[in-house]
Amino acid sequence: MPPTLGSRLQAFLTRQSGGDIAAEIATPEGLKKALAELNNSKAPTPRRLAIAKALVQAGKSEAIEAIVKILRAAGTSTLKRGILPVAAQLNSPKIPLAILESYEKGIAGDKGLREDALRMMAARLEWAQTMVRFVDEWKVPEKHFTVDIVRQLSLHHDVAIDAAIERHWKTLLLTGVTPEKDREMARLKDVLKTGLGDPNKGQIIFAGRCAACHKLFEQGGAIGPELTGYDRQSLEFWMLNITYPSLEIREGFGAYIAKLKDGRILTGLMDAQGGGSITLKDLAGNRTAVKQADIEKLEASPISIMPEALLTGLSDAELKDFFAYLMK
Ligand code: HEC
Repeated sequence: MPPTLGSRLQAFLTRQSGGDIAAEIATPEGLKKALAELNNSKAPTPRRLAIAKALVQAGKSEAIEAIVKILRAAGTSTLKRGILPVAAQLNSPKIPLAILESYEKGIAGDKGLREDALRMMAARLEWAQTMVRFVDEWKVPEKHFTVDIVRQLSLHHDVAIDAAIERHWKTLLLTGVTPEKDREMARLKDVLKTGLGDPNKGQIIFAGRCAACHKLFEQGGAIGPELTGYDRQSLEFWMLNITYPSLEIREGFGAYIAKLKDGRILTGLMDAQGGGSITLKDLAGNRTAVKQADIEKLEASPISIMPEALLTGLSDAELKDFFAYLMK
């Protein structure tokens, strides 16, 4: 192939793949054009992302304003989520402020986007400090933080952040993943990988430890979700949910904490709601009705009412029987 044709072909191929942006933005006119495209909401998302990436890589500070604008826009989008890893590289206080100040309108509605954004901010000390300030001011809900994000925050060993963790996420860390539970999980895996036991014996264990709250094969209560129709063949599903009940609380089965104006704190399942009052039911079945006007704060509890360590005391053989019944 003659060299000129080769380089022309090369140029054609780069254009096809979105263009060699690094070369484009090397000139003042090219830079201006690229910025205009990045700011143009009608330009294709992959192209805008590629431009943002190239600008940041080339250390062009002009990119900050455009990226801030994208992050501040109302509503969630794939562009916003895609731009986060690019924004993460910009050491500017404008980035966390763009996210946090538009959190309710432009971030919170998309679980994947908001967790990416919180995780990103947790990674930088200054951003993390700003973020916990917003949580303290109730502008960002503490319940949007997952265990891994809080863990990330704790890694800074910063006095202000540690104090915020103590205020907002202490129970999350306690009920989340701990070395003890990791060991429990490892033991289960070890025992169960050599095969399962007798489902009939396992049924007795289920009746004693789970049936008060769960129905499985027509037997059991309704405090927790019915387990019959589940992904019952997945050992991982059972092990995770039994070992870490609070890691993910099934919607509709979580407890509430009501702080009353007279100083009381009630917890229980939402039994009824409406007509200006709510009724909470505790595990023993006691119902307490409170008027909305008497409530100072009502929030979902981060802790599952499903107890932890439900399998303690079972021998290896009993564990094999129990799981044989669950997966029957
Ligand atoms: C005191 C009541 C209670 C007991 C006892 C109990 N659970 Fe639960 N369980 C719940 C509640 C409530 C939920 C839903 C909230 C949550 O996801 O944590 C739940 C959730 C689950 C889930 C997850 C279901 C989902 O949709 O995510 C599994 C699996 C489960 N329990 C299995 C068991 C097994 C197996 C036992 C016995 C070893 C057991 N539970 C004992 C109350 C209980």
